Amino acid sequence: MKPVYVWEFPVRLTHWLGVLSIVILSVTGFYIGSPFMHATDAESLITAHMRFIHFTAAYVFTVSLILRMYWWFAGNRYARLSQFIPTTAERLRNIRKTAKFYAFCQGNLPYTPGHTGLAGLTYTFLFLLYLIEITTGFAMLSVAHGGGAVWTLFGGWSLSLMSVANLRLMHHLIMWVIWVIVIIHVYTGWENDIVERNGLISSIFSGYKSLDE
Ligand code: HEM
Ligand code: HEM
Repeated sequence: MKPVYVWEFPVRLTHWLGVLSIVILSVTGFYIGSPFMHATDAESLITAHMRFIHFTAAYVFTVSLILRMYWWFAGNRYARLSQFIPTTAERLRNIRKTAKFYAFCQGNLPYTPGHTGLAGLTYTFLFLLYLIEITTGFAMLSVAHGGGAVWTLFGGWSLSLMSVANLRLMHHLIMWVIWVIVIIHVYTGWENDIVERNGLISSIFSGYKSLDE
């Protein structure tokens, strides 16, 4: 086995910025959805503070996603768009073999230095959910803050498709879908690390995976 540098700094940075902001967005979003603390005086403004933290984390989350999307084109071969959208027969085979492994129909994971085919596909789905969260979130924000670029980019067209209450419901439900994916993600990452002995979990901190020479 030898150490191979797979996850470059921008991949690790956007991964952990994403994790941090999703945790903050979920806690504050959950509170915004059903506030439970009582204001002791008119100055308390608890929900206002929660909303402020939510929107601040929302900007960090959005910028981090833009940076990660830029790295699809500027990064090394393990960061590229081809890791997420399968375009070769080899990659499609990898998806089939990884799915068979997780369905207990095959003993070994296919050798994949970067993301496995199935992981890449799952992240594509996750990034789509991120885009929906950003669109519905900024659309709701544009209602509260009136016209401008945010309204043009997110609010106007999405509110012509559905009411703000439905946007809010969709925004809330997707939070749960993201967390279901995260639970499976951490479990399979950990399992992959143990089965393959490739140091996968530490790789998302250090950038290095242990790979067969
Ligand atoms: C993974 C990302 C995100 C998660 C998990 C999340 C979660 C939530 C949740 C659970 C709510 C409460 C919905 C309800 O039940 O009423 C909420 C509200 C809201 N979120 Fe997010 N959110 C995310 C990203 C964003 C983004 C990127 C924006 C963009 C600005 C945003 C803006 C808003 C707004 C405007 C509200 C409504 C606030 C209000 O009604 O006072 N969110 N969010
Ligand atoms: C909110 C929680 C999390 C989310 C949304 C998330 C999301 C993601 C995404 C999108 C990627 C792809 C990275 C890229 O190429 O940009 C990834 C990779 C990875 N994440 Fe997470 N992650 C979360 C938490 C964690 C945690 C807690 C760990 C472990 C301690 C972890 C370990 C990893 C590893 C090892 C990879 C590389 C795995 C592979 O080869 O596919 N993640 N994660």
